Amino acid sequence: MQGVGDKNLSVLFVCLGNICRSPMAEGAFRAAAARHALDCEVDSAGTASYHIGSQPDLRAIAIARANGVEIADQSARQIERNDFFRFTHIFAMDEANLAGIKAQAPRDGTARVALLTAALQGKQAKPIADPYYGDDALFASVWDEVSEAAEALAAHFAQVGVDLRL
Ligand code: 4NP
Repeated sequence: MQGVGDKNLSVLFVCLGNICRSPMAEGAFRAAAARHALDCEVDSAGTASYHIGSQPDLRAIAIARANGVEIADQSARQIERNDFFRFTHIFAMDEANLAGIKAQAPRDGTARVALLTAALQGKQAKPIADPYYGDDALFASVWDEVSEAAEALAAHFAQVGVDLRL
């Protein structure tokens, strides 16, 4: 059976709606992957179907743009069965996302599934809270959290390669 070690690095970020946290994580990780010269497919998805086809939340677009990252071209989608074979790694934003992902993981799926903040070794893997009903300040703190974790993740991949386990 093909395992993660035989594949090209490919990373999927997952939240609930795929319009706030995971689009920011996707954008932040694309920037971090470029800094670390990683050759990597990157995408994001939601566990829920509410926002399929939507652009990221305007507050997410604004805070990403203020940090030099463009995410307005993303379009929300729901995680699907093939993602567990297509991606080497799937990162959840919070425990509910993690549980939702694991609940629908095919038994023979090859993707490694973890919390994004597990990349912050030495710090507690604290979930990234849903900012949807919050204000701009909450979006700014979510941006900081996903950026810090994305940078740590890219640095780990640069060191360990596709076989990284978190
Ligand atoms: P996200 O935030 O999971 O970070 O994209 C949310 C977006 C929409 C909803 C909840 C969370 N919603 O209930 O519509």
